[in-house]
Amino acid sequence: MSFPSRRFPTTRLRRLRQAAWSRQLVQEHRLCPADLIWPVFIVEGEQQRIAIESMPEVMRLSIDQLLIEAQQAQTLGIPAIALFPVIDPALKTATGDEALNPDNLICRAIHSLRAAALDIGIICDVALDPYTNHGHDGVIINGDVDNDATVELLTQQAVIQAQAGCQIIAPSDMQDGRVGAIRQALDQAGFYQVMILAYAAKYCSHFYGPFRDALGSQQSLANKGKHTYQQPITNSDEALHEVALDLQEGADMVMVKPAMPYLDVIYRIKQTFHVPTFAYQVSGEYTMLHHLAQTTHTNVETLLIESLLSCKRAGSDAIITYAAKQIAQSLSQKN
Ligand code: PBG
Repeated sequence: MSFPSRRFPTTRLRRLRQAAWSRQLVQEHRLCPADLIWPVFIVEGEQQRIAIESMPEVMRLSIDQLLIEAQQAQTLGIPAIALFPVIDPALKTATGDEALNPDNLICRAIHSLRAAALDIGIICDVALDPYTNHGHDGVIINGDVDNDATVELLTQQAVIQAQAGCQIIAPSDMQDGRVGAIRQALDQAGFYQVMILAYAAKYCSHFYGPFRDALGSQQSLANKGKHTYQQPITNSDEALHEVALDLQEGADMVMVKPAMPYLDVIYRIKQTFHVPTFAYQVSGEYTMLHHLAQTTHTNVETLLIESLLSCKRAGSDAIITYAAKQIAQSLSQKN
């Protein structure tokens, strides 16, 4: 872009900034509750609201509490929630068998939400990490997560979640070919209307720490990261390849994760493919903003809104954030 005819003092950019109304008039991007997806950690039991030490104000909820809060989220105008089950360590195995139990925690949560007939979409991760005793997203063969054996299990996991009533399947495992395999399995089972939100560019990030705390998968993962399947933090062309493949395989929406450290990737994907592109403001980003608010006595909502707007400017259509309810509330008070 060039601005040949615009010169000071005929052009004064401060002119439009002088009043709240004129700033609003020329506002390029807006954040509204419809942009937000609320991720929720769910636990067994009744009346459970269990704090997560590393994530201020985030609770693990039992299904009865989830129903109350999902209703609130819907009232606030949040279009979808993403469910993450916290699995009893006694049920975790090397092959994550509990993921394929049609009566597992997440399936029961989906059933309950659907029975409550809420008008809010349900998103479920497809990956084995909540269910494996080693914390990896798939099954380990010869010392590494085996791609094809893992994909086989993930397709079954996806169908089980769709059978329970999940409307958006979100593979977050970063195995090759999983979107195509899941699409085929869903279609064969008659779930051609079930959508796929691919965690297309999921980086091997250090910002996932608090999430792994919440799930109890950190400990078991020890020092062995997810480098052999998640994307290297140094690359962005590779993210475009991931997205191209996921779209060819049938993804309806793609996601970049984490959000703020990868805004360039969101931007490139949106500019290249023009498809629904989401950002995941991950646990570490959320916690980081809370710590900043605390240290500098700043209102955390202003920090969160600024960070979410950066995702919008980059081209995100929607953003997953642990602060979704809080932000939706604060946005509705302002309007
Ligand atoms: C696991 C999964 C992770 C997150 C969402 N799904 C963690 C990981 O890959 O280890 C992270 C979310 C967050 O940090 O908020 N498949």
